[in-house]
Amino acid sequence: MSKAVLAYTGALDNLICIHWLRTVKNIKVVTFSGNFGQPEYLEEVGERALETGAISAHIADMRERFLHDFCFQALRAGAKYESGYVLSSALSRPPLAQELVRIAREEGCEFVAHGCRGIGNDQVRLESYLHTLAPDLKIVAPLFELGLKTPEDDEAYAKRWNLPRATNRQMRYNVDQNLWGVALQLGPRADLWVEPPDDTYIMTRRISDAPDKPTYVEIGFEAGLPVTIDGERTGTMDMVETMNRLGAQYAVGRLDVIEDRISGLKAREIYEAPAAHLLHQAHTALEELTLDKDVFQFRDVTARRYADLVYRGKWFTPFREALDAWFDVIERNVTGTVKLKLMGGTSLVVGRQSPHSLYKSEMLSYDGDVERTTRRKRSLESEHGSKPPSTRRD
Ligand code: ARG
Repeated sequence: MSKAVLAYTGALDNLICIHWLRTVKNIKVVTFSGNFGQPEYLEEVGERALETGAISAHIADMRERFLHDFCFQALRAGAKYESGYVLSSALSRPPLAQELVRIAREEGCEFVAHGCRGIGNDQVRLESYLHTLAPDLKIVAPLFELGLKTPEDDEAYAKRWNLPRATNRQMRYNVDQNLWGVALQLGPRADLWVEPPDDTYIMTRRISDAPDKPTYVEIGFEAGLPVTIDGERTGTMDMVETMNRLGAQYAVGRLDVIEDRISGLKAREIYEAPAAHLLHQAHTALEELTLDKDVFQFRDVTARRYADLVYRGKWFTPFREALDAWFDVIERNVTGTVKLKLMGGTSLVVGRQSPHSLYKSEMLSYDGDVERTTRRKRSLESEHGSKPPSTRRD
């Protein structure tokens, strides 16, 4: 009997995958659930997989690796997609694919299964990563095969086969949450003109509940990566968790955007990413101070391309490696500290310092870099005698 490893979140649509593979396709199922910082308790999620017929349920703590090897690389690269999506979902797919392949090998699986419903971003990314990492594994998408398109379709299937039911929230939103942020999909029929209700948001407070009294936080960077909070050395996970808490309290990092999907269709997306928002903001402020003009401007181009490649599922490519090599070089001097001020719904950069600062206060003045012009005039005078050479022939 053949075996499949299923990328499994514990949601009803994933239970349907287990049920269908096992009973209709006669394929044994092992599940994999990675902890990327989503709120679900994975032991319980694993239990549910076994109750639904999986033969084993793997769970793994992916948080440190996900943040350090993927999110922080993207942060260093300034990678935000289009109007500011920090790629929280997109960045979790390469490590997920790696882990699925590892388990497939360990368990001797011929198939990898996932719960994508159609040709969407997640499906394109996951399948392209699986193809790259393990071209011999066959991919199966049960919900797609079954033609289940909506949560109502899932409900009908669950009722028929007596599977546990989805919660109301699961019915209303398609939520993908991890430590780098949360993506909330309102459903294709949601009116673009209508503001999402406040209970849509799950990480951040509403702006009217954020404290009026401002607070300050200092984030220290070394070679483009955040390493200290208020002068204290902070590990990767602590850094992100602390910034998430702080940002959430001050209601920063919300985004309601129209986004160009891989397929070319536009979709409305709601995101919350308090930590990523603050860290990107501070990182860019430090780059302004430490990168020279050519590099800073070209960095914009490369940051966009980096975001785009992450979005399109091209992590395991020479292009990404080459861009990382570029960032290895240009981020060398992005070391220093940025002070942010947080208050009701916003964060502002209010201070920056760096041992590699390119800011030369002694050469500046209010009215057009006078100091510098004076210097140039003086040096011309010393080269050409007391007066600058005249351009007119007498
Ligand atoms: N639009 C985002 C992306 O493509 C979010 C995807 C979220 N996925 C989900 N299953 N809710 O990266």
